[in-house]
Amino acid sequence: MDQHRSHNPNSSHQNRQSAYKRERDDSGKNHCENKHSRPNHPQYQSGPTPGQNPLSSRGLSTRREQYEKDFPVYKQPVEVGCFSLDSERRFFNDNRQMRYYVEPDRSPNFDLRDGYKDRFIKRDDSVKEKLDHMLRWILANRSKLSSRGTAASSCALDVDFVTWRGHLTKLLTTPYETREGWLLAVTRFRGTLYISEVETEAARRDQENRTERHEEMMYWGYKFEQYTCADNVHSLPDPGGVVNTNEAFCTVVQTRLADHRLLFSGEVDCRDKDPNAPAPPACYVELKTSAEISTPKQRSNFHRFKLLKWWAQSFLPGVPRVVAGFRDHEGVVVTVDTFPISKISHLIKNEQNCWKPTVCMNFCCEFLSFVKHIATEDNPSVVYLLSWEPHRDVTFSIHRDSQYSFLPHWYVEEMTRSQDSH
Ligand code: A3P
Ligand code: MG
Repeated sequence: MDQHRSHNPNSSHQNRQSAYKRERDDSGKNHCENKHSRPNHPQYQSGPTPGQNPLSSRGLSTRREQYEKDFPVYKQPVEVGCFSLDSERRFFNDNRQMRYYVEPDRSPNFDLRDGYKDRFIKRDDSVKEKLDHMLRWILANRSKLSSRGTAASSCALDVDFVTWRGHLTKLLTTPYETREGWLLAVTRFRGTLYISEVETEAARRDQENRTERHEEMMYWGYKFEQYTCADNVHSLPDPGGVVNTNEAFCTVVQTRLADHRLLFSGEVDCRDKDPNAPAPPACYVELKTSAEISTPKQRSNFHRFKLLKWWAQSFLPGVPRVVAGFRDHEGVVVTVDTFPISKISHLIKNEQNCWKPTVCMNFCCEFLSFVKHIATEDNPSVVYLLSWEPHRDVTFSIHRDSQYSFLPHWYVEEMTRSQDSH
């Protein structure tokens, strides 16, 4: 990825196809792009924010200019496990919901509206699952994660952050987001920081006021997945089946952004069915739909807004390609194109004032440093609520035994028990 390499003094050590640091490159070295070796940080600003809890009087800037620095170290993400959610949203510590990519024609004329009325089971999104599925995965796999360190180690898991990939995607795109703010709840427990999203009032209102057309268009993306995915290596897609959005296959990856050790999970649409394909996550394929592009203005908007989201979502877990179905106004897929994630930065090069991967990654990195700095009390019932609205700084407030607490008792008790017996 040239955009990364040109910002990365260690680029000659990198795989030509990859913006990630190889493990051997960063063992024991303090790279100069690591934020801790930079002189001019952090971006926290002091001074009261009117009308806010005084505890939130220190903020973190989201201004793009502040993050135009060298690309930070981002280690090649490693899949440490996976899990599946079935048609009733039950958790399984295995890959039973994995699907296999079946390449469509370049002009397949898929009708994405088919089945919306009669073959669609929609997940109940009023049920807030928070981090629960990830926590279940952690409990089922804690031997892979527990520190082998000394009894003095206060970190039960060998990671600094546990979260969903989707929350990190929101952080990556924050410096370029002008419409939707976010709320992220953070709890420090046994040395690890857990980050879980809280729905904003604005998002709740938007959800309640969705038009019928919008509701239907949200189905189109899932329908495209059904046209292009098979349930096993030898079968074909079944466009006559039911689309059930409860079903999911999720990868769990471990990586490091500068000095932040991350463990996160994200839903994966499908994988390359070739048995000789590279190991996960390199064999995974992200599927997307988008309006067909017929004017320069549409192309520019696609580069500036869509590709930013697509890049951020797949770059984080190391998914190397997005297969996009471009649809007309009636929901018919007229063309299909593949976008290698490592080529997206070339595609946007000619756009004026376009987004930059380094700004996204540096902002995320500073955000995580900010969280480490403020979320100091190790207590499963304390939540540091980080709040952001477009054109503002990130601020925070602290809540004890509140509606925001999100680590379930079953998790806290099991982790406490397993550590005490350690
Ligand atoms: P598209 O990506 O083709 O829009 P994902 O791409 O992340 O795997 O999500 C699959 C589909 O879920 C999306 O397909 C879209 O249909 C729906 N979806 C996901 N997030 C959404 C959101 N925030 N708003 C509306 N639809 C969403
Ligand atoms: Mg998708």
